[in-house]
Amino acid sequence: MINRRQVVKFGAGMLAAQNSLLAATEKGMAPADHLSLIQRPIPGSGELLPVIGMGTSRTFDTDDDPETIAQLKQVMSTFFGSGGRIIDSSPMYGNAESRVGDVLRAMDNAPALFSATKVWTTGREQGIAQMNESARRMNVDRFDLIAVHNLQDWQTHLETLKQWKAEGKVRYIGITTSHGRFHDALLEIMRKQPLDFVQFSYNIADRAAEKALLPLAHDRGIATMINRPYQRGSLFGKSRGKALPKIAGALDCSSWGQFYLKYILGHPAVTCIIPATSSAKHMADNMKAGFGRLPDSSQRAEMLRIFQAL
Ligand SMILES: NC(=O)c1ccc[n+]([C@@H]2O[C@H](COP(=O)([O-])OP(=O)(O)OC[C@H]3O[C@@H](n4cnc5c(N)ncnc54)[C@H](OP(=O)(O)O)[C@@H]3O)[C@@H](O)[C@H]2O)c1
Repeated sequence: MINRRQVVKFGAGMLAAQNSLLAATEKGMAPADHLSLIQRPIPGSGELLPVIGMGTSRTFDTDDDPETIAQLKQVMSTFFGSGGRIIDSSPMYGNAESRVGDVLRAMDNAPALFSATKVWTTGREQGIAQMNESARRMNVDRFDLIAVHNLQDWQTHLETLKQWKAEGKVRYIGITTSHGRFHDALLEIMRKQPLDFVQFSYNIADRAAEKALLPLAHDRGIATMINRPYQRGSLFGKSRGKALPKIAGALDCSSWGQFYLKYILGHPAVTCIIPATSSAKHMADNMKAGFGRLPDSSQRAEMLRIFQAL
């Protein structure tokens, strides 16, 4: 539940959107009008999540000097103030889990966080120790989601995670990749294992996930968390300095960033996206993609044609 005091004012339009989000959230509904933050259900539970989350790779792998913490606090305040909830991290991202924890501790009000991290090691005891350490570093009592990072020793960690879920030590479990070469192995795991979430890369320049991952996730009722939505930022190299196309207006997009995120959200099997940024301005931009109209399949085809012609 989002606390009204946590809502940061971004002007009349955004505030109206947040108010309708609050009203809809309080009724337990997914808001549908164009001023409300779009939420989608986790198929396994029906729990609603805002479609735009936040990644932390590189952007939160920083030192802990006061200036950096203040900057990251601005990024995170903008995120929560716009209705964001999901923060995705990993022990693989250097200091990122610790910086998330530092900033959460520095927040004035406890935010409505959906905490997600990963296990990235080999061996049962090492996995358990790492997950406990991640909770300490990120300052959470219990993770909402823990996923096996890049399939590493997945048989071992999935057994632990299934047990932790049964014992109430974690709410959801999953597995991640960002490498196309792992897709076949990931598909096999998705067919056989009781996963709540699967995380992989998908964006307008890398559509390999459309072939089998997204359809299978839909068929198996597995929530999808999309990483690298901007292909690590390289998409902006193509659109920099180019005017937004007319279709952007029809989809309530005021930037190329929103254009790229809405292309992804137009796929019905996408549950949420986790773009990463170290800039409060970019965060505000990214969060706007979670409001307004989304493309249908013919609009997505047009967006793709436009991107490929850039
Ligand atoms: N195997 C895995 O589990 C796996 C693999 C890859 C990624 N992930 C997760 O997915 C998250 C996202 O992927 P990613 O960080 O690799 O790449 P990404 O989100 O595709 O791109 C991040 C880059 O985009 C820039 N950016 C963000 N918003 C922008 C905006 N509105 N306008 C202009 N530039 C913008 C950022 O620069 P600024 O800082 O300047 O904004 C940053 O350089 C990761 O942080 C991580 O949490 C998981």
